[in-house]
Amino acid sequence: MMTEIVLPNDTNGLGNMMGGRLLHLMDKCAAISAQRHANRVCVTASVDNVEFQSAIQEGEVVVIEGQVNRAFHTSMEVELNVWAENPREETHRKCNRAFYTFVALDEEGSPVAIPSIEPQSEDEQARYEGAAKRRDIRLVLAGRKDLEDAASLKEDMLSALTPSTDDVD
Ligand SMILES: CC(C)(COP(=O)(O)OP(=O)(O)OC[C@H]1O[C@@H](n2cnc3c(N)ncnc32)[C@H](O)[C@@H]1OP(=O)(O)O)[C@@H](O)C(=O)NCCC(=O)NCCS
Repeated sequence: MMTEIVLPNDTNGLGNMMGGRLLHLMDKCAAISAQRHANRVCVTASVDNVEFQSAIQEGEVVVIEGQVNRAFHTSMEVELNVWAENPREETHRKCNRAFYTFVALDEEGSPVAIPSIEPQSEDEQARYEGAAKRRDIRLVLAGRKDLEDAASLKEDMLSALTPSTDDVD
């Protein structure tokens, strides 16, 4: 969990926090989560699904929570959720969510295997399963995997495109 107050230097002409400044804080928070899991130096391999749902204003407090959803071989998916706290109005609202992929590196700078994640709760299980599907999508988009080989993704796309029996006369 990371907290930071939004100061004038972080904002645009409307007094809203600039997206790049928020992404910088999210990257730092995700790196801490990844490095705590891997006990290694970790680098950002990719960032996807960034949603700016609500502007964060000067004077508000940004709260960023990072969680490793799943570890693969040398890479892991870190989910970031962002809230804004308004101290004067005593409000707390969800502003942003993103998925970062980090890779653990050894002393020579080469990718190195990391411990796996054992999901316990239903929520952790859902995050764990979702992470495999999102990984397929990002590797296909990055040109690192053929759609034909992305088994779960192909099945999901086919089931989404196949009419259910309710739709057939
Ligand atoms: C990320 C990096 C280490 C990957 O190196 P590489 O030589 O391609 O290594 P590999 O092919 O062995 O891939 C390593 C892992 O990264 C994953 N990966 C690589 N590119 C990825 C991408 N675009 N999206 C998601 N995962 C990716 C691979 O799937 C693999 O995961 P796995 O071991 O869990 O199966 C390398 O590209 C790098 O150092 N990039 C710069 C990182 C950096 O400086 N980040 C700061 C932001 S500028």
